[in-house]
Order: sequence, then C-alpha cells, then structure tokens
Amino acid sequence: MKSQPEKKQTLLTGFKPTGNLHIGNYFGVMKPFLDIYEDYNSFFMVADYHAIITLHKSGELRQNILNLVRDFMAAGLDPEKVVIFRQSENQDHTELAWILNCVVTVPFLMQSHAYKDSVAKGAEANAGLFTYPILQAADIALYNTDIVPVGEDQRQHLEYAREAVRKFSSSFGDWVLKEPKEKIIKSVGVVLGTDGKKMSKSYGNTIPLFATTAEIEKAVMSIVTDSDGDHPKNVFNIHCLIKDEKELRPIYDKHKGHYGELKKILITDLDNFISPFRNRRVAITDKQIMDALATGLIQAKEVSKSTLGKVRRAIGVNL
Ligand code: ADP
Ligand code: TRP
Repeated sequence: MKSQPEKKQTLLTGFKPTGNLHIGNYFGVMKPFLDIYEDYNSFFMVADYHAIITLHKSGELRQNILNLVRDFMAAGLDPEKVVIFRQSENQDHTELAWILNCVVTVPFLMQSHAYKDSVAKGAEANAGLFTYPILQAADIALYNTDIVPVGEDQRQHLEYAREAVRKFSSSFGDWVLKEPKEKIIKSVGVVLGTDGKKMSKSYGNTIPLFATTAEIEKAVMSIVTDSDGDHPKNVFNIHCLIKDEKELRPIYDKHKGHYGELKKILITDLDNFISPFRNRRVAITDKQIMDALATGLIQAKEVSKSTLGKVRRAIGVNL
C-alpha cells in the first residue's frame, strides 16, 4: 500500500506594523522564520489590531501595513508558499478573543510583563494592552496552529495562549481548540546595536534593513568603539552577523587599532549585504501586496471560520 504523504504541521506567526525593520529584527526573528516556513502549512499575519494599542495615526498605520508586507516579501517571503493576511480583515480574531476573555481571569492577565511595565512606568494602560495576550491567543488558536516561531520576548505571550486554550477546553471540551507550542528562536539571541545595547528602534541604535548606502555610512560611523583586546567589539559584533567570524579575525588582526579602516570595511560589507534587499523592495508594487493580502484573507478565513463554528457550537450560541 502506498504510504500517505505526511500531513504538514501548521505554523503561524504575526508581526506588528509599527515601523521600519532593522537588522536586529532580521537576524533575531525574520531570518529564522524565513528559513523554515516553507516546511509547514504557514500563515503570516499582519497584527494591525495589536498595533493600535500604541499607534493612533491612521496614515502611519496604513503605510506601515503595506511596508511590513513589502519588507517581508523583499526579504524572501513568497506569497505562493504562505498565507499572508491582515488580522483586522478577519473578524473571527476579535470574536474568539472576546470568548477567550470570558474564560481567563483578571488576576491572570495582571501578570503580563507588558502590562506590569506599563503600570510601573506610571502610565494608564489601555484595556487593549491588558487583553493583548488574549487577542494573540485567538490569532493562534483559530488556525489549529502547531508551532509559533517567535523571539524570546514573546515567550510569555505563548504561555498565555496555551493557558487560554486550556481554560477554554476545561469549560467547553478539549475537542475544539488546539494547544500551540512555541518555537523560541535561539539562533542569534539578542542582536546588539551601534551603542552595544540591544538593537531597538526605540534606542535609535539600529542599522535599518533597507538602509541606503548613506544611511549605512552614518550608522556605522556612529558605532561606539569600545575595544575588547584590540578589536572594537561593537563593530566586530555587527560584522559577525554578515560575515564568518573565522574570515573576520585575520582582517581585524591586520587592522589592529585602526578603527576607521575597520568601519570602512564594515560599510562595504553591509552595503553588499543590504543592496539586494533594497533592490527587491523597490520592485514590489502596492498591487502585488494587495493581491497577496486578498488571496490570503480568503484562505485564512476558510480555516478560521471552521474553528469558530466549532467554538460557537461548543459554547451553545449556534441555535
Ligand atoms: P524594536 O525593539 O526595534 O521596537 P520590535 O519590538 O518591533 O523591535 O521587535 C519585533 C520582533 O523582532 C520581536 O519579536 C523581537 O524579538 C525581535 N527583535 C527586535 N529587536 C531585536 C534584537 N535586537 N535582537 C533580536 N531580536 C530582536
Ligand atoms: N505579539 C507579537 C509581537 O509583538 C505579534 C503577534 C500578534 C503574534 N499575534 C501573534 C506573534 C500571533 C505570533 C503569533 O511581536
């Protein structure tokens, strides 16, 4: 008897459209995701309803949404091999989030790091921030997701997703929603920025993933040159992302103490690394993006509708 082809597991990940991507995002989460997504039945979601927790400028959000899809496509995401869709276009997400909100408790949500940080800073957190993990749980559960590849900073959100599913199952039965597994991406860990701290757009220490040559020069020239032995370690750390350490050691030995020379070499190497991304990005039209999102929405809806149908049956609102 011919053996059945193995059914692929389902993978889902989401990104908030909150601004320009940098090489920390790329090496930290994008590349590890791009390296594996073709092996799964994959969903890529633009988390635009999560973004409005902080972003309240419609023009900016609209542009960020298009750019996020454009950036990922330029970095290698192939709409033929993944379902690309927007969270806000599929109302099943907010509907399931409401239902899950009714099985989790307030003290449970009060443990969220993001919520606690906001309170510690003296901010009045909006209710969206408070229930953020539950919308994320709904994103994941709707697609019977097996694995969710995310950065270390998302570990707690995945625990919330699992726990929300468990609470739902204990009230309404375990035949409805699947408990997801996280796949914490460990390969590079935290990518450091031009000042040696975690690269982050909020610290202004980034190398943008689609930087022009002039932007690369400006960013590299601003690298703080603390030396580790005779090597400027912040320059070296960034260099190691794009070139083999073994290849770099002799170059750094040869230019010991000549930080300017080493920065020039880094500028050239970064430009060679980034220019194919830049070139692909300018060639992607808005129409290609809108087409990918339209097709993706139909495919996403097909799966989420069936899950939500089961949920509605399980809770008793399907008269
Ligand atoms: P930023 O700190 O620049 O605002 P985000 O919070 O938008 O970045 O990050 C989006 C994703 O990229 C997160 O999943 C996070 O884990 C990952 N990421 C961000 N910065 C880094 C970094 N410096 N190193 C590794 N991963 C990162
Ligand atoms: N919270 C995630 C982040 O900030 C984005 C996100 C929303 C997500 N929904 C998701 C990630 C579902 C994975 C799965 O990066």
